[in-house]
Amino acid sequence: MPKINYTDKSGNIMSVEVESWLSVMEGALQNNVPGIDADCGGSMACATCHVYVEEKWLDKIPKAEDAEIDMIDMAHEPKKNSRLSCQIIITDELEGLSVTTPEKQS
Ligand code: FES
Repeated sequence: MPKINYTDKSGNIMSVEVESWLSVMEGALQNNVPGIDADCGGSMACATCHVYVEEKWLDKIPKAEDAEIDMIDMAHEPKKNSRLSCQIIITDELEGLSVTTPEKQS
């Protein structure tokens, strides 16, 4: 199972193994990672799963679709590396993926 690194606003890192084909959001919920609430359950309607993806991983995950980009625009402090973690599906190639939760979600 790929290891995913979740960092909070204070720099604390939680490294957890997550089954492939789950989303980064689901991996967070299953492992009690703070800062990812996922109020809508993954239907791109809340942005409470907003994360910043470490730059080096941006090219390794599929690009955001328009609906995700629209929702990110409504998230708190969006940046160019913002993604909705419910839309990032974990594969073996994402071993070591690092994401950071925004300050307001911690
Ligand atoms: S869980 Fe609501 S947008 Fe991702």
